[in-house]
Amino acid sequence: MSTQQPVNYPVWTHRWTYILATTGAAVGLGNIWKFPYIAGENGGGAFVLMYLFCIMMLGVPIMMAEVLLGRKGRANPVHSMLSQARVAGASKLWAFIGLMGVAAGIMILMYYSVVAGWSLEYVFQSARSSYIGQDAQTIAAGFGDLAQNSGRQLLWHTVFITATATIVGLGVTRGIGNAVNILMPILFALLLLLLWYAFKNGEFQQGLDFMFAADFSKLTGQSVLVAMGHAFFTLSLGMGTVMVYGSYMSADQSISSAVVVVAGLDTLIALIAGMAIFPLVFASGLAPGSGPGLLFETLPIAFSGMWGGAFFGTGFFVLVAIAALSSSISLIEPGIAWLEKLGSSRLMATVGLSVLCWLGGIASIYSNTVFDTLDFLTANIMLPLGGLLIALFVGWKLGYTRVRKEVNTLSSGLFNLWFISLRFIAPAGVLVIFYHSVKTSLGY
Ligand code: TRP
Repeated sequence: MSTQQPVNYPVWTHRWTYILATTGAAVGLGNIWKFPYIAGENGGGAFVLMYLFCIMMLGVPIMMAEVLLGRKGRANPVHSMLSQARVAGASKLWAFIGLMGVAAGIMILMYYSVVAGWSLEYVFQSARSSYIGQDAQTIAAGFGDLAQNSGRQLLWHTVFITATATIVGLGVTRGIGNAVNILMPILFALLLLLLWYAFKNGEFQQGLDFMFAADFSKLTGQSVLVAMGHAFFTLSLGMGTVMVYGSYMSADQSISSAVVVVAGLDTLIALIAGMAIFPLVFASGLAPGSGPGLLFETLPIAFSGMWGGAFFGTGFFVLVAIAALSSSISLIEPGIAWLEKLGSSRLMATVGLSVLCWLGGIASIYSNTVFDTLDFLTANIMLPLGGLLIALFVGWKLGYTRVRKEVNTLSSGLFNLWFISLRFIAPAGVLVIFYHSVKTSLGY
């Protein structure tokens, strides 16, 4: 059997743990912070449709390929790629996908943790009712003050990295598995609570219209690209997160069903987040297109004037922090699994990489250039490149028969459709994103 379990290699205790862990990796700041504000900036409905289209056409096919590589390789992304390249008779250089992935995860965490830290500050302030009865300008200015306050950001960034390291350090089943089993149900419950709150207190119909009434005249070439890039980021594709989580998946779990469930949940949660946020924004007479500050400036203003605002505002930022935590552990796990394979203990690997991320985070706090460069390099270059290479490797190198053996629950019609999209459609789509992001970055 190609997917036999090596001795002592971890495996999720339950198939639901795999689903929750991967959904936890996928659902993060991307869904709750980024998706609503980029949907707001790009005019709503038509953008949302474009994003859904990209999830289905690019995201799902590539995600299946990445999970497959992990489960077949039964190792961290570097060694999974090495073994699969050997099996396929391809060059060892394909392991570059794994190495770049390990690096990308660390680099993303170097700024992700800072944003997650902001959410902790907002938990703290909301719980103290700091925003209640304040006027809009004062609250909005609070976000600017935080951005200037390095000490405060450093505190929360340190708290967040420590929490991430503690969970990951405890191991795959005891740490990550247990954490997602507890965190994800809380996340779902909080989200539904907030959806209900927005339904009761917000301009719900106006929020729905904004998100779902498609006006294609608002869709520019640039927003199509943003939608495609975000499909990647939100599904955690292209850097070994879903590969390493797939390596802990039991051999009899269906890859295609698992991926459809995870991608479906991720999308649903992004849409619910939008449906919880926009009605509150409209009810406060605020604009949806205010950019990255939407979550941290606009929402506290919305909550400040509403019934139960301190309570629900706190709940909202706890939700953001939980979503970020279940993602941050997935950013660092590929690197830890790799160092373990090279002979390090889990503890040493965790401490080493966490300190690295902590130092990088300090650089992001003190320098906007570092923050923006890390974001740009990872999201616009490394992830699309990783995804492209994964699609090409599985589509063209691994071989139809080997792939068919691993993805054996699909009907042959669906399997062939997937394989064709892996060979042609997904690589072409990614090349388009890649080409445009390089072009715009060079200023053409
Ligand atoms: N998907 C997460 C979010 O939406 C972030 C994330 C976790 C990620 N792991 C990743 C992004 C791997 C890219 C690659 O917030």
